[in-house]
Amino acid sequence: MTDTVLLESPSPVSRRYHVKSFGCQMNVYDSERMGDLLEADGMVVSDSSDDADVVVLNTCHIRERAAEKLYSDIGRLRRPRADGSRPTIVAAGCVAQAEGAEIARRAPDVDVIVGPLAYHRLPQLLRDARTARAIDTEMPDAPKFAALPPRRHQGAAAFLTVQEGCDKFCTFCVVPYTRGQETSRPLADLLAEAEALVAAGAVEITLIGQNVNAYHGGTSLAGLIARLADIDGLKRIRYTTSHPRDMSDDLIAAHTEIPKLMPYLHLPVQSGSSRILKAMNRAHTRGSYLETLDRVRAVRPDIALSGDFIVGFPGETEADFADTLSIVAEARYAAAFSFKYSVRPGTPAGTMADQVPEAVKDERLARLQAAIAAGSHAFNQDTVGRRTEILLERQGRKPGQLIGKTPWLQSAVVSVPGARIGDLIAVEITAAGPNSVDATPLQQERSAA
Ligand code: 5AD
Ligand code: SF4
Repeated sequence: MTDTVLLESPSPVSRRYHVKSFGCQMNVYDSERMGDLLEADGMVVSDSSDDADVVVLNTCHIRERAAEKLYSDIGRLRRPRADGSRPTIVAAGCVAQAEGAEIARRAPDVDVIVGPLAYHRLPQLLRDARTARAIDTEMPDAPKFAALPPRRHQGAAAFLTVQEGCDKFCTFCVVPYTRGQETSRPLADLLAEAEALVAAGAVEITLIGQNVNAYHGGTSLAGLIARLADIDGLKRIRYTTSHPRDMSDDLIAAHTEIPKLMPYLHLPVQSGSSRILKAMNRAHTRGSYLETLDRVRAVRPDIALSGDFIVGFPGETEADFADTLSIVAEARYAAAFSFKYSVRPGTPAGTMADQVPEAVKDERLARLQAAIAAGSHAFNQDTVGRRTEILLERQGRKPGQLIGKTPWLQSAVVSVPGARIGDLIAVEITAAGPNSVDATPLQQERSAA
């Protein structure tokens, strides 16, 4: 049946696709790769879902609010357009994986349901969907990556997925159920993909994975970073997200031995209370986390630390929360993300006693975010006077302004006549706010002199 469809002559007008990405950087990578697949299949990108023939919703299941966005988007897309048409709707990503059957029941207009480990089959699923809804939420052992076409990424900064899935089973988290068990991509494949990215103009690569520092595809993450650092033209390497348990000595040493590795570490702690960390099954305590930071700062005193926090985990008392507030000050975060605990179906914490009332979560989140913002401001102020490089990423709000990223991942606002997005320029940091710093170019001063 599908063979007949495959033999159809291509339509004279290329079909248009639009991918909307929710959630984490893994999804950003996957969305880009789905685009690569569809283009290899003869489709062209559309900037908007309004005139696309195929709309892919690449969903996130990490919190309830994120998951609900799928249903509101489907509701909008299924309404007929002025010409009576509606797009083919693809539900992809972690909600599709976790709730494929429920999506099929609740949203009968969805044409394709495909999980994050099966999307290499998307072109075929779209063909199958011409006759009946196509579902693929298999979690195959065979890696999808080998089945993907070459990357077409353009731009100075790129993500590279090196590892996927998680075996740690924190009691609040759906990732082990949606992304499956931890798997690492082979070193040779990653070097080839990185070389292609650099040949196409990338100067910064961020290695991504749910547990990126557990990478073990023939070498450790530190070994992979060392190999990537040998690529001429690649100027900056970053990695995210790391688990405190996997901060190995060689990775810490890489922060002083490999100049291309940026001084930034995203190391989620989730809570400052060892009692709550135990209930979360985090496999680290407050004390062991702070010791890890000491080891990192011993070799890289300027490291910009970022983290994730959950407030209102079941059983969290005011005393536990006070421990979370105090670890923010003690750990000296440059930035951090904080979330209200959200019950996820099928996870152990979802059925724990002593769920925390929503109003208490709201109040704790506000206090935590104020503490984090104060820490970010202090970190930014500390960098004033430093001479460094920034990678220009986008236009600023005012004419002539550009926004770049410092090695510490701060947004730096600068005016550099003649500079372009993607340039790496030498600057001095001159002023600091809570969310960004101001910088002035050094080269410009030299050439003006
Ligand atoms: N509720 C709230 N936040 C969560 N996270 C993961 N699961 C949940 C949940 N059930 C947060 C954690 C994680 C980040 C990606 O999302 O802080 O590090
Ligand atoms: Fe989720 Fe914990 Fe795995 Fe991170 S380490 S993906 S929070 S289960």
